[in-house]
Amino acid sequence: MFRGRGARTIEKDCVLIIGSGIAACTAALQLAKDKRVLLITKGELTDNNTIRAQGGIAAVVDQRDSWELHVQDTIKAGYNLNNEEAVELLVKKGSSYIQKLAQEGFPFDYDANQVLSLGKEGAHSRRRILHAGGDATGKAIITFLHQQISTAIEIITNRTVIELIMEGNRCIGVQVIDEEGVVSNLYADSVVLATGGCGALFDVTSNHPAMLGEGIGLAYQAGAILTDLEFIQFHPTLLWKDNQSFGLISEAVRGEGARLVTGNGDFIMENVHPLLDLAPRDVVARTIQTVRNKGTAVYLDISQIKDFRMRFPSITTLCEEANVNISKGLLPVSPGVHFAMGGVQTDKYGRTSVAGLYAVGEVACTGAHGANRLASNSLLEGLVYGQQVARHISKLPNKQQNNRKVDETSSRDLHCSKISLPEQAEIKKIMTEYAGIQRDYQGLQVAKNWLENFCVHKPIASVPSTQKALFNQLTASWLLVTSALARNESRGSHYRMDFPENRESWENKHIERYKEIDWQQAITGGEL
Ligand code: SIN
Repeated sequence: MFRGRGARTIEKDCVLIIGSGIAACTAALQLAKDKRVLLITKGELTDNNTIRAQGGIAAVVDQRDSWELHVQDTIKAGYNLNNEEAVELLVKKGSSYIQKLAQEGFPFDYDANQVLSLGKEGAHSRRRILHAGGDATGKAIITFLHQQISTAIEIITNRTVIELIMEGNRCIGVQVIDEEGVVSNLYADSVVLATGGCGALFDVTSNHPAMLGEGIGLAYQAGAILTDLEFIQFHPTLLWKDNQSFGLISEAVRGEGARLVTGNGDFIMENVHPLLDLAPRDVVARTIQTVRNKGTAVYLDISQIKDFRMRFPSITTLCEEANVNISKGLLPVSPGVHFAMGGVQTDKYGRTSVAGLYAVGEVACTGAHGANRLASNSLLEGLVYGQQVARHISKLPNKQQNNRKVDETSSRDLHCSKISLPEQAEIKKIMTEYAGIQRDYQGLQVAKNWLENFCVHKPIASVPSTQKALFNQLTASWLLVTSALARNESRGSHYRMDFPENRESWENKHIERYKEIDWQQAITGGEL
Protein backbone atom coordinates (compact mmCIF):
# COMPACT_ATOMS: atom_id res chain seq x y z
CA MET A 1 0.00 0.00 0.00
CA PHE A 2 1.07 3.56 -0.66
CA ARG A 3 1.18 5.19 2.73
CA GLY A 4 3.47 8.15 2.08
CA ARG A 5 1.93 11.54 2.66
CA GLY A 6 3.80 13.42 0.02
CA ALA A 7 2.92 13.77 -3.61
CA ARG A 8 4.41 11.24 -5.91
CA THR A 9 4.88 10.92 -9.63
CA ILE A 10 3.83 7.57 -11.02
CA GLU A 11 5.81 6.05 -13.87
CA LYS A 12 4.78 5.78 -17.49
CA ASP A 13 3.03 2.46 -17.74
CA CYS A 14 0.79 2.99 -14.77
CA VAL A 15 -2.97 2.58 -14.80
CA LEU A 16 -4.97 4.28 -12.07
CA ILE A 17 -8.22 2.60 -11.11
CA ILE A 18 -10.58 4.54 -8.86
CA GLY A 19 -12.91 2.31 -6.85
CA SER A 20 -12.91 -1.03 -5.06
CA GLY A 21 -15.99 -2.96 -6.23
CA ILE A 22 -16.30 -5.83 -8.68
CA ALA A 23 -15.61 -3.76 -11.82
CA ALA A 24 -12.53 -2.07 -10.30
CA CYS A 25 -11.05 -5.32 -8.98
CA THR A 26 -11.77 -7.35 -12.11
CA ALA A 27 -10.10 -4.72 -14.29
CA ALA A 28 -7.19 -4.38 -11.88
CA LEU A 29 -6.48 -8.11 -11.74
CA GLN A 30 -6.53 -8.53 -15.49
CA LEU A 31 -4.41 -5.41 -16.08
CA ALA A 32 -1.81 -6.35 -13.51
CA LYS A 33 -0.55 -9.01 -15.92
CA ASP A 34 0.78 -6.28 -18.25
CA LYS A 35 0.81 -2.95 -16.43
CA ARG A 36 1.57 -1.35 -13.14
CA VAL A 37 -1.78 -0.90 -11.48
CA LEU A 38 -2.64 1.47 -8.69
CA LEU A 39 -6.09 1.21 -7.14
CA ILE A 40 -7.37 4.21 -5.19
CA THR A 41 -10.39 4.18 -2.95
CA LYS A 42 -11.80 6.96 -0.84
CA GLY A 43 -12.51 4.77 2.16
CA GLU A 44 -11.49 1.22 2.96
CA LEU A 45 -11.37 -1.51 0.32
CA THR A 46 -14.74 -2.80 1.49
CA ASP A 47 -16.55 0.51 1.06
CA ASN A 48 -18.45 -0.34 -2.11
CA ASN A 49 -21.85 -1.52 -3.33
CA THR A 50 -20.67 -4.94 -4.52
CA ILE A 51 -20.28 -6.16 -0.97
CA ARG A 52 -23.97 -5.42 -0.35
CA ALA A 53 -25.28 -7.35 -3.37
CA GLN A 54 -27.50 -10.12 -2.10
CA GLY A 55 -29.36 -11.56 -5.06
CA GLY A 56 -26.59 -12.83 -7.26
CA ILE A 57 -25.29 -12.90 -10.79
CA ALA A 58 -27.56 -13.55 -13.74
CA ALA A 59 -26.01 -15.86 -16.33
CA VAL A 60 -27.03 -18.47 -18.83
CA VAL A 61 -25.67 -21.77 -17.53
CA ASP A 62 -28.73 -23.99 -17.79
CA GLN A 63 -29.60 -25.97 -20.91
CA ARG A 64 -33.22 -24.83 -20.74
CA ASP A 65 -32.02 -21.24 -21.00
CA SER A 66 -30.37 -19.39 -23.90
CA TRP A 67 -28.44 -16.18 -24.41
CA GLU A 68 -31.21 -14.99 -26.72
CA LEU A 69 -33.71 -15.23 -23.85
CA HIS A 70 -31.43 -13.39 -21.44
CA VAL A 71 -30.93 -10.63 -24.03
CA GLN A 72 -34.67 -10.45 -24.62
CA ASP A 73 -35.43 -10.17 -20.88
CA THR A 74 -32.76 -7.48 -20.43
CA ILE A 75 -34.13 -5.36 -23.27
CA LYS A 76 -37.73 -5.80 -22.18
CA ALA A 77 -36.85 -4.69 -18.62
CA GLY A 78 -34.86 -1.79 -20.12
CA TYR A 79 -37.91 -0.56 -22.09
CA ASN A 80 -36.04 -0.95 -25.40
CA LEU A 81 -33.64 1.84 -24.63
CA ASN A 82 -30.73 -0.60 -24.39
CA ASN A 83 -27.80 -0.78 -26.76
CA GLU A 84 -28.35 -4.26 -28.17
CA GLU A 85 -24.68 -4.84 -28.91
CA ALA A 86 -23.76 -3.99 -25.31
CA VAL A 87 -26.42 -6.39 -24.02
CA GLU A 88 -25.26 -9.25 -26.25
CA LEU A 89 -21.70 -8.78 -25.14
CA LEU A 90 -22.79 -8.77 -21.49
CA VAL A 91 -24.81 -11.92 -21.79
CA LYS A 92 -22.56 -13.95 -24.09
CA LYS A 93 -19.27 -13.22 -22.34
CA GLY A 94 -21.06 -13.38 -19.00
CA SER A 95 -21.78 -17.06 -19.11
CA SER A 96 -18.22 -18.04 -20.00
CA TYR A 97 -16.75 -15.82 -17.26
CA ILE A 98 -19.11 -17.33 -14.73
CA GLN A 99 -18.05 -20.82 -15.69
CA LYS A 100 -14.41 -19.74 -15.40
CA LEU A 101 -15.09 -18.29 -11.94
CA ALA A 102 -16.64 -21.56 -10.85
CA GLN A 103 -13.60 -23.47 -12.18
CA GLU A 104 -11.27 -21.12 -10.30
CA GLY A 105 -12.99 -22.14 -7.10
CA PHE A 106 -15.47 -19.35 -6.48
CA PRO A 107 -17.94 -20.84 -3.96
CA PHE A 108 -21.26 -20.63 -5.84
CA ASP A 109 -24.14 -22.37 -4.09
CA TYR A 110 -24.98 -25.85 -5.42
CA ASP A 111 -28.09 -27.93 -4.86
CA ALA A 112 -28.22 -31.39 -3.29
CA ASN A 113 -27.30 -32.96 -6.68
CA GLN A 114 -24.18 -30.79 -6.98
CA VAL A 115 -25.79 -28.75 -9.76
CA LEU A 116 -25.42 -24.95 -9.64
CA SER A 117 -28.39 -23.64 -7.69
CA LEU A 118 -30.34 -21.12 -9.80
CA GLY A 119 -32.65 -18.50 -8.33
CA LYS A 120 -35.35 -16.42 -10.02
CA GLU A 121 -35.81 -12.66 -9.87
CA GLY A 122 -38.15 -10.08 -11.37
CA ALA A 123 -38.63 -9.97 -15.17
CA HIS A 124 -36.42 -13.03 -15.81
CA SER A 125 -38.16 -15.65 -17.94
CA ARG A 126 -35.91 -18.42 -16.56
CA ARG A 127 -34.20 -19.39 -13.33
CA ARG A 128 -30.70 -18.03 -13.98
CA ILE A 129 -29.48 -16.25 -10.83
CA LEU A 130 -26.35 -17.83 -9.38
CA HIS A 131 -25.64 -17.03 -5.78
CA ALA A 132 -23.14 -17.66 -3.02
CA GLY A 133 -23.55 -17.88 0.74
CA GLY A 134 -27.33 -17.89 0.18
CA ASP A 135 -27.87 -14.14 -0.04
CA ALA A 136 -24.27 -12.97 0.38
CA THR A 137 -23.10 -13.20 -3.23
CA GLY A 138 -21.51 -9.74 -3.37
CA LYS A 139 -19.60 -10.31 -0.16
CA ALA A 140 -18.33 -13.66 -1.41
CA ILE A 141 -17.21 -12.25 -4.73
CA ILE A 142 -15.49 -9.21 -3.28
CA THR A 143 -13.67 -11.37 -0.74
CA PHE A 144 -12.55 -13.67 -3.55
CA LEU A 145 -11.26 -10.74 -5.64
CA HIS A 146 -9.68 -8.83 -2.76
CA GLN A 147 -7.65 -11.88 -1.76
CA GLN A 148 -6.09 -11.82 -5.20
CA ILE A 149 -5.56 -8.09 -5.63
CA SER A 150 -3.87 -7.58 -2.30
CA THR A 151 -0.80 -9.39 -3.62
CA ALA A 152 -0.83 -8.14 -7.21
CA ILE A 153 -1.72 -4.47 -7.01
CA GLU A 154 -0.72 -1.30 -5.17
CA ILE A 155 -3.65 -0.04 -3.16
CA ILE A 156 -4.21 3.44 -1.80
CA THR A 157 -7.02 3.74 0.72
CA ASN A 158 -8.65 6.78 2.32
CA ARG A 159 -7.84 9.19 -0.52
CA THR A 160 -10.66 10.87 -2.37
CA VAL A 161 -10.18 11.75 -6.01
CA ILE A 162 -11.32 15.34 -6.30
CA GLU A 163 -10.34 16.28 -9.82
CA LEU A 164 -9.13 14.71 -13.03
CA ILE A 165 -5.89 16.23 -14.29
CA MET A 166 -6.08 17.19 -17.92
CA GLU A 167 -3.47 18.07 -20.47
CA GLY A 168 -5.34 19.59 -23.37
CA ASN A 169 -8.33 17.30 -23.64
CA ARG A 170 -6.47 14.23 -22.41
CA CYS A 171 -6.77 12.88 -18.88
CA ILE A 172 -3.30 12.29 -17.49
CA GLY A 173 -3.95 11.70 -13.82
CA VAL A 174 -5.93 12.54 -10.73
CA GLN A 175 -5.77 14.93 -7.84
CA VAL A 176 -6.48 13.29 -4.48
CA ILE A 177 -7.03 14.56 -0.98
CA ASP A 178 -6.44 12.59 2.23
CA GLU A 179 -8.31 12.78 5.52
CA GLU A 180 -6.03 15.53 6.78
CA GLY A 181 -6.61 17.68 3.72
CA VAL A 182 -3.26 16.97 2.08
CA VAL A 183 -3.54 17.12 -1.70
CA SER A 184 -1.42 15.07 -4.12
CA ASN A 185 -1.34 14.61 -7.85
CA LEU A 186 -0.92 11.14 -9.35
CA TYR A 187 -0.13 10.70 -13.03
CA ALA A 188 -0.83 7.74 -15.29
CA ASP A 189 -1.26 6.75 -18.90
CA SER A 190 -4.81 5.61 -18.29
CA VAL A 191 -7.35 6.49 -15.61
CA VAL A 192 -10.30 4.18 -14.99
CA LEU A 193 -13.35 5.47 -13.13
CA ALA A 194 -14.98 2.58 -11.26
CA THR A 195 -16.48 4.72 -8.54
CA GLY A 196 -19.92 3.07 -8.39
CA GLY A 197 -23.30 4.72 -8.18
CA CYS A 198 -24.99 7.69 -6.60
CA GLY A 199 -27.66 6.19 -4.31
CA ALA A 200 -26.30 7.96 -1.24
CA LEU A 201 -27.34 11.29 -2.76
CA PHE A 202 -30.80 10.22 -1.52
CA ASP A 203 -32.10 9.58 1.99
CA VAL A 204 -33.41 6.05 1.47
CA THR A 205 -31.08 3.75 -0.42
CA SER A 206 -29.61 0.26 -0.56
CA ASN A 207 -26.23 1.81 -1.48
CA HIS A 208 -23.13 2.15 0.63
CA PRO A 209 -22.95 5.69 2.15
CA ALA A 210 -19.84 6.40 0.06
CA MET A 211 -21.81 6.17 -3.21
CA LEU A 212 -22.25 9.89 -3.77
CA GLY A 213 -21.99 10.16 -7.55
CA GLU A 214 -18.57 11.78 -7.46
CA GLY A 215 -17.41 9.88 -10.56
CA ILE A 216 -20.19 11.59 -12.50
CA GLY A 217 -19.07 15.00 -11.25
CA LEU A 218 -15.41 14.28 -12.02
CA ALA A 219 -16.14 13.13 -15.56
CA TYR A 220 -18.42 16.09 -16.28
CA GLN A 221 -15.87 18.59 -15.05
CA ALA A 222 -13.32 16.97 -17.38
CA GLY A 223 -15.62 17.39 -20.39
CA ALA A 224 -16.73 13.75 -20.80
CA ILE A 225 -20.12 12.91 -22.29
CA LEU A 226 -22.63 11.48 -19.83
CA THR A 227 -25.84 9.82 -20.80
CA ASP A 228 -29.23 8.60 -19.45
CA LEU A 229 -28.66 10.12 -15.99
CA GLU A 230 -32.40 10.43 -15.34
CA PHE A 231 -32.73 6.66 -15.01
CA ILE A 232 -32.37 5.78 -11.33
CA GLN A 233 -33.71 2.42 -10.29
CA PHE A 234 -35.66 2.08 -7.06
CA HIS A 235 -35.50 -1.32 -5.43
CA PRO A 236 -39.00 -2.25 -4.27
CA THR A 237 -38.09 -3.84 -0.98
CA LEU A 238 -35.85 -2.25 1.61
CA LEU A 239 -36.53 -3.44 5.15
CA TRP A 240 -38.45 -0.56 6.75
CA LYS A 241 -38.94 -0.13 10.45
CA ASP A 242 -39.42 2.93 12.69
CA ASN A 243 -39.31 5.25 9.67
CA GLN A 244 -35.90 4.10 8.54
CA SER A 245 -34.37 1.58 6.21
CA PHE A 246 -32.26 -1.28 7.54
CA GLY A 247 -31.04 -2.54 4.15
CA LEU A 248 -32.08 -4.58 1.15
CA ILE A 249 -34.42 -7.54 1.04
CA SER A 250 -33.39 -9.30 -2.13
CA GLU A 251 -35.80 -9.85 -4.97
CA ALA A 252 -34.73 -13.47 -4.68
CA VAL A 253 -37.10 -13.63 -1.71
CA ARG A 254 -40.01 -12.97 -4.06
CA GLY A 255 -38.35 -15.39 -6.49
CA GLU A 256 -38.82 -18.06 -3.83
CA GLY A 257 -42.50 -17.24 -3.45
CA ALA A 258 -42.87 -14.25 -1.09
CA ARG A 259 -45.82 -11.99 -1.89
CA LEU A 260 -46.37 -8.27 -1.30
CA VAL A 261 -49.35 -7.69 0.95
CA THR A 262 -51.04 -5.06 3.06
CA GLY A 263 -51.61 -5.61 6.77
CA ASN A 264 -55.05 -7.03 5.79
CA GLY A 265 -53.43 -9.67 3.62
CA ASP A 266 -54.46 -8.10 0.27
CA PHE A 267 -52.02 -8.93 -2.54
CA ILE A 268 -50.98 -5.54 -3.87
CA MET A 269 -49.61 -6.75 -7.24
CA GLU A 270 -52.89 -8.49 -8.18
CA ASN A 271 -54.30 -6.93 -11.40
CA VAL A 272 -51.27 -4.66 -11.77
CA HIS A 273 -48.98 -6.75 -14.00
CA PRO A 274 -49.13 -10.28 -15.43
CA LEU A 275 -45.85 -11.16 -13.65
CA LEU A 276 -47.41 -10.12 -10.31
CA ASP A 277 -44.76 -9.78 -7.58
CA LEU A 278 -41.99 -10.49 -10.08
CA ALA A 279 -42.97 -7.68 -12.44
CA PRO A 280 -40.16 -5.29 -13.47
CA ARG A 281 -38.77 -3.35 -10.53
CA ASP A 282 -40.13 0.05 -11.53
CA VAL A 283 -43.68 -1.32 -11.65
CA VAL A 284 -43.40 -3.07 -8.28
CA ALA A 285 -41.64 -0.13 -6.59
CA ARG A 286 -44.23 2.41 -7.78
CA THR A 287 -47.11 0.17 -6.73
CA ILE A 288 -45.68 -0.15 -3.21
CA GLN A 289 -45.08 3.61 -3.07
CA THR A 290 -48.65 4.34 -4.17
CA VAL A 291 -50.07 2.08 -1.45
CA ARG A 292 -47.76 3.57 1.17
CA ASN A 293 -48.67 7.11 0.07
CA LYS A 294 -52.23 6.29 1.17
CA GLY A 295 -50.93 5.55 4.66
CA THR A 296 -51.09 1.74 4.27
CA ALA A 297 -48.01 -0.25 5.25
CA VAL A 298 -46.71 -2.92 2.84
CA TYR A 299 -45.17 -6.25 3.87
CA LEU A 300 -43.41 -9.16 2.24
CA ASP A 301 -45.29 -12.27 3.24
CA ILE A 302 -42.57 -14.92 3.54
CA SER A 303 -44.69 -17.54 5.26
CA GLN A 304 -44.57 -19.87 2.22
CA ILE A 305 -40.75 -20.00 2.09
CA LYS A 306 -39.29 -23.09 3.71
CA ASP A 307 -35.92 -22.74 5.45
CA PHE A 308 -35.94 -18.95 5.10
CA ARG A 309 -33.12 -18.54 7.62
CA MET A 310 -30.88 -20.98 5.79
CA ARG A 311 -31.50 -19.63 2.28
CA PHE A 312 -31.34 -15.96 3.37
CA PRO A 313 -28.90 -15.69 6.29
CA SER A 314 -27.92 -12.05 5.68
CA ILE A 315 -31.55 -10.92 5.49
CA THR A 316 -32.26 -12.88 8.65
CA THR A 317 -29.50 -10.91 10.39
CA LEU A 318 -30.89 -7.61 9.05
CA CYS A 319 -34.31 -8.50 10.48
CA GLU A 320 -32.76 -9.31 13.84
CA GLU A 321 -30.97 -5.94 13.83
CA ALA A 322 -34.24 -4.19 13.04
CA ASN A 323 -36.10 -6.19 15.67
CA VAL A 324 -38.43 -7.68 13.05
CA ASN A 325 -39.65 -11.13 14.07
CA ILE A 326 -39.24 -13.44 11.06
CA SER A 327 -41.41 -16.17 12.48
CA LYS A 328 -44.44 -13.90 12.13
CA GLY A 329 -43.89 -14.16 8.34
CA LEU A 330 -44.34 -10.46 7.54
CA LEU A 331 -41.38 -8.17 6.72
CA PRO A 332 -42.23 -4.43 6.46
CA VAL A 333 -40.85 -2.88 3.25
CA SER A 334 -40.45 0.36 1.36
CA PRO A 335 -38.74 1.21 -1.96
CA GLY A 336 -35.35 2.94 -2.00
CA VAL A 337 -32.77 4.13 -4.51
CA HIS A 338 -30.76 1.19 -5.77
CA PHE A 339 -28.95 1.60 -9.10
CA ALA A 340 -28.01 4.22 -11.70
CA MET A 341 -28.54 3.00 -15.26
CA GLY A 342 -26.97 6.10 -16.79
CA GLY A 343 -23.47 7.40 -16.31
CA VAL A 344 -20.29 8.25 -18.16
CA GLN A 345 -20.87 7.23 -21.76
CA THR A 346 -18.55 4.44 -22.88
CA ASP A 347 -18.03 2.07 -25.74
CA LYS A 348 -17.61 -1.67 -25.28
CA TYR A 349 -14.04 -1.19 -24.06
CA GLY A 350 -14.96 1.37 -21.39
CA ARG A 351 -13.54 4.23 -23.48
CA THR A 352 -15.13 7.58 -22.70
CA SER A 353 -15.19 10.62 -24.96
CA VAL A 354 -12.08 11.92 -23.17
CA ALA A 355 -8.74 10.45 -24.21
CA GLY A 356 -7.01 8.52 -21.43
CA LEU A 357 -10.22 8.28 -19.37
CA TYR A 358 -12.20 5.03 -19.01
CA ALA A 359 -15.29 4.16 -17.01
CA VAL A 360 -16.64 0.81 -15.89
CA GLY A 361 -19.36 -0.58 -13.63
CA GLU A 362 -22.21 1.50 -12.25
CA VAL A 363 -20.56 4.86 -12.96
CA ALA A 364 -20.44 3.97 -16.66
CA CYS A 365 -23.21 3.82 -19.22
CA THR A 366 -22.55 1.18 -21.86
CA GLY A 367 -26.25 1.18 -22.73
CA ALA A 368 -26.62 -2.42 -21.48
CA HIS A 369 -29.34 -1.55 -18.97
CA GLY A 370 -31.54 0.83 -20.97
CA ALA A 371 -34.15 2.59 -18.86
CA ASN A 372 -34.28 -0.08 -16.15
CA ARG A 373 -31.74 -2.73 -15.22
CA LEU A 374 -32.73 -6.37 -15.15
CA ALA A 375 -32.12 -7.86 -11.69
CA SER A 376 -28.69 -9.37 -11.07
CA ASN A 377 -27.20 -8.01 -14.30
CA SER A 378 -24.98 -5.55 -12.41
CA LEU A 379 -22.40 -7.92 -10.91
CA LEU A 380 -22.29 -9.51 -14.35
CA GLU A 381 -21.60 -6.10 -15.88
CA GLY A 382 -18.71 -5.49 -13.47
CA LEU A 383 -17.20 -8.81 -14.39
CA VAL A 384 -17.62 -8.56 -18.16
CA TYR A 385 -16.85 -4.88 -18.71
CA GLY A 386 -14.06 -4.96 -16.12
CA GLN A 387 -12.36 -7.50 -18.40
CA GLN A 388 -13.18 -5.50 -21.52
CA VAL A 389 -11.54 -2.32 -20.27
CA ALA A 390 -8.50 -4.25 -19.06
CA ARG A 391 -8.08 -6.07 -22.36
CA HIS A 392 -8.10 -2.77 -24.21
CA ILE A 393 -5.69 -0.92 -21.93
CA SER A 394 -3.31 -3.91 -21.77
CA LYS A 395 -2.71 -3.59 -25.48
CA LEU A 396 -1.81 0.11 -25.36
CA PRO A 397 1.89 0.83 -25.80
CA ASN A 398 3.62 2.31 -22.77
CA LYS A 399 4.30 5.97 -23.30
CA GLN A 400 7.24 8.00 -22.18
CA GLN A 401 5.83 10.98 -20.34
CA ASN A 402 8.01 13.66 -18.93
CA ASN A 403 8.31 13.47 -15.20
CA ARG A 404 6.44 16.26 -13.54
CA LYS A 405 7.27 18.05 -10.39
CA VAL A 406 4.27 17.90 -8.10
CA ASP A 407 3.61 19.92 -4.99
CA GLU A 408 2.08 18.28 -1.98
CA THR A 409 -0.44 21.03 -1.52
CA SER A 410 -2.12 22.63 -4.46
CA SER A 411 -0.79 26.15 -4.55
CA ARG A 412 -3.75 27.26 -6.60
CA ASP A 413 -5.84 26.98 -3.44
CA LEU A 414 -4.23 30.25 -2.47
CA HIS A 415 -6.27 31.89 -5.21
CA CYS A 416 -9.52 30.07 -4.42
CA SER A 417 -11.81 31.68 -1.94
CA LYS A 418 -13.93 29.30 0.12
CA ILE A 419 -17.40 29.02 -1.34
CA SER A 420 -20.59 28.46 0.55
CA LEU A 421 -21.81 24.91 -0.11
CA PRO A 422 -24.69 23.08 1.59
CA GLU A 423 -24.41 20.14 4.00
CA GLN A 424 -24.66 16.69 2.42
CA ALA A 425 -27.88 16.10 4.39
CA GLU A 426 -29.51 19.05 2.61
CA ILE A 427 -28.64 17.59 -0.81
CA LYS A 428 -30.18 14.25 0.19
CA LYS A 429 -33.34 15.94 1.42
CA ILE A 430 -33.80 17.88 -1.83
CA MET A 431 -33.03 14.86 -4.03
CA THR A 432 -35.39 12.60 -2.07
CA GLU A 433 -38.21 15.11 -2.09
CA TYR A 434 -37.99 16.29 -5.69
CA ALA A 435 -36.06 13.74 -7.77
CA GLY A 436 -37.38 10.51 -6.27
CA ILE A 437 -39.59 7.70 -7.48
CA GLN A 438 -42.38 10.02 -8.71
CA ARG A 439 -41.23 13.29 -10.25
CA ASP A 440 -42.84 16.30 -11.85
CA TYR A 441 -41.81 19.56 -13.50
CA GLN A 442 -42.47 21.77 -10.46
CA GLY A 443 -40.51 19.64 -8.04
CA LEU A 444 -37.57 19.10 -10.39
CA GLN A 445 -37.48 22.82 -11.07
CA VAL A 446 -37.30 23.54 -7.31
CA ALA A 447 -34.35 21.12 -7.03
CA LYS A 448 -32.64 22.62 -10.09
CA ASN A 449 -32.93 26.19 -8.79
CA TRP A 450 -31.63 25.16 -5.38
CA LEU A 451 -28.64 23.31 -6.86
CA GLU A 452 -27.81 26.21 -9.16
CA ASN A 453 -27.27 28.43 -6.11
CA PHE A 454 -23.99 26.60 -5.73
CA CYS A 455 -22.52 27.55 -9.10
CA VAL A 456 -22.23 24.00 -10.41
CA HIS A 457 -21.29 25.49 -13.79
CA LYS A 458 -18.05 26.98 -12.59
CA PRO A 459 -14.73 25.22 -13.26
CA ILE A 460 -13.79 22.85 -10.48
CA ALA A 461 -10.26 24.24 -10.55
CA SER A 462 -11.63 27.39 -8.92
CA VAL A 463 -13.06 25.43 -5.95
CA PRO A 464 -10.87 24.98 -2.85
CA SER A 465 -9.54 21.40 -2.57
CA THR A 466 -11.39 20.63 0.64
CA GLN A 467 -14.71 21.47 -1.04
CA LYS A 468 -14.20 19.69 -4.36
CA ALA A 469 -15.70 16.32 -3.34
CA LEU A 470 -18.92 18.02 -2.23
CA PHE A 471 -18.87 20.12 -5.38
CA ASN A 472 -18.69 16.91 -7.45
CA GLN A 473 -21.69 15.52 -5.54
CA LEU A 474 -23.65 18.70 -6.24
CA THR A 475 -22.67 18.54 -9.90
CA ALA A 476 -23.90 14.93 -10.12
CA SER A 477 -27.19 15.88 -8.44
CA TRP A 478 -27.70 18.80 -10.78
CA LEU A 479 -27.01 16.65 -13.85
CA LEU A 480 -29.47 14.04 -12.66
CA VAL A 481 -32.20 16.58 -11.91
CA THR A 482 -31.79 18.48 -15.17
CA SER A 483 -31.77 15.24 -17.19
CA ALA A 484 -35.00 14.22 -15.44
CA LEU A 485 -36.47 17.61 -16.32
CA ALA A 486 -35.51 17.17 -19.96
CA ARG A 487 -37.23 13.80 -20.43
CA ASN A 488 -40.88 14.77 -20.76
CA GLU A 489 -42.23 11.26 -20.57
CA SER A 490 -42.20 8.22 -18.30
CA ARG A 491 -40.03 5.26 -19.27
CA GLY A 492 -38.61 2.50 -17.11
CA SER A 493 -37.39 3.84 -13.81
CA HIS A 494 -38.02 7.48 -14.77
CA TYR A 495 -41.59 8.36 -13.82
CA ARG A 496 -43.02 11.83 -14.45
CA MET A 497 -46.43 12.35 -12.85
CA ASP A 498 -47.05 15.15 -15.36
CA PHE A 499 -46.14 12.84 -18.29
CA PRO A 500 -47.20 9.40 -17.03
CA GLU A 501 -46.96 7.60 -20.42
CA ASN A 502 -44.15 6.44 -22.72
CA ARG A 503 -44.11 8.85 -25.64
CA GLU A 504 -43.32 7.73 -29.15
CA SER A 505 -41.28 10.86 -29.78
CA TRP A 506 -38.90 9.78 -27.00
CA GLU A 507 -38.35 6.24 -28.20
CA ASN A 508 -34.64 5.55 -28.78
CA LYS A 509 -33.76 9.03 -27.53
CA HIS A 510 -30.98 9.51 -25.02
CA ILE A 511 -30.14 12.63 -23.05
CA GLU A 512 -26.47 13.43 -23.36
CA ARG A 513 -24.72 15.92 -21.10
CA TYR A 514 -21.28 17.46 -21.36
CA LYS A 515 -19.51 20.60 -20.43
CA GLU A 516 -17.96 22.67 -23.15
CA ILE A 517 -14.45 23.46 -22.09
CA ASP A 518 -11.94 25.65 -23.79
CA TRP A 519 -8.84 23.53 -23.19
CA GLN A 520 -6.59 26.36 -24.38
CA GLN A 521 -7.75 28.40 -21.40
CA ALA A 522 -8.28 25.71 -18.81
CA ILE A 523 -5.71 24.71 -16.22
CA THR A 524 -6.65 21.73 -14.10
CA GLY A 525 -5.42 19.53 -11.31
CA GLY A 526 -2.86 21.73 -9.63
CA GLU A 527 0.13 23.34 -11.20
CA LEU A 528 1.75 21.11 -13.76
C1 SIN B 1 -31.58 -8.05 -5.21
O1 SIN B 1 -31.06 -9.02 -4.68
O2 SIN B 1 -32.79 -7.88 -5.23
C2 SIN B 1 -30.70 -7.02 -5.83
C3 SIN B 1 -29.91 -7.59 -6.92
C4 SIN B 1 -29.78 -6.61 -8.04
O3 SIN B 1 -30.10 -5.45 -7.88
O4 SIN B 1 -29.38 -7.02 -9.12
